[in-house]
Amino acid sequence: MAIHFMESKTKENLMKAFAGESQARNRYTMAAEKADELKMQAVRNVFLFTADQERAHAQRFYELLGEAQGTTIDICGGYPVDKSDTLVDLLQAAVHNEMEEYEDVYQAFGDTAKEEGFMKIASAFYRTAEVEFTHAKRFGKILELIKSGKYFESEATGMWMCLNCGYIYTGKKVPDVCPLCRHDKGYFIPLCMAPYTCSEITDGRKACYKQ
Ligand SMILES: [Fe+2]
Ligand SMILES: [Fe+2]
Repeated sequence: MAIHFMESKTKENLMKAFAGESQARNRYTMAAEKADELKMQAVRNVFLFTADQERAHAQRFYELLGEAQGTTIDICGGYPVDKSDTLVDLLQAAVHNEMEEYEDVYQAFGDTAKEEGFMKIASAFYRTAEVEFTHAKRFGKILELIKSGKYFESEATGMWMCLNCGYIYTGKKVPDVCPLCRHDKGYFIPLCMAPYTCSEITDGRKACYKQ
């Protein structure tokens, strides 16, 4: 059934999505500050990278609200309070919230938009849900590495990239400071999660360092 946008449930859902994404962006920005305090600078970068994407989601939903320009939309919604001084808690909360958006919230908003005849908006909800799945998995991967004590260590030989200078360290345990730029070990991230990098790029490098 096609209904007028201004009378639709979708109009409210877009505003709820805008509020939710705006808050997620701020929560991740604050979590990034906490990660920085805890000297986990690479995890800070992951929070900031994700915060920027939440901003982009908010922007897209705000654009789609264009027809409501000049009006005020009342919404009633629940939003999480996830304050903590530990990265494990902050990551756990992030995984939970992202999965909720992926599995429930945006699927339901997409279905409602489709039923109300707003196909373009439905597609924005469904596609955002897909991104939130990746966010949940990315935060979950870091959480698992930190919880198992394997973020900086591995039983077999592992590789990590320093996000300050790009140096790739190969070994079983990341040193306290980067051997090249002397920045804290918190700048290192397991190579499989390093940005703009894949094995095609890093394979075939010969060791140039000589004692
Ligand atoms: Fe988002
Ligand atoms: Fe997200």
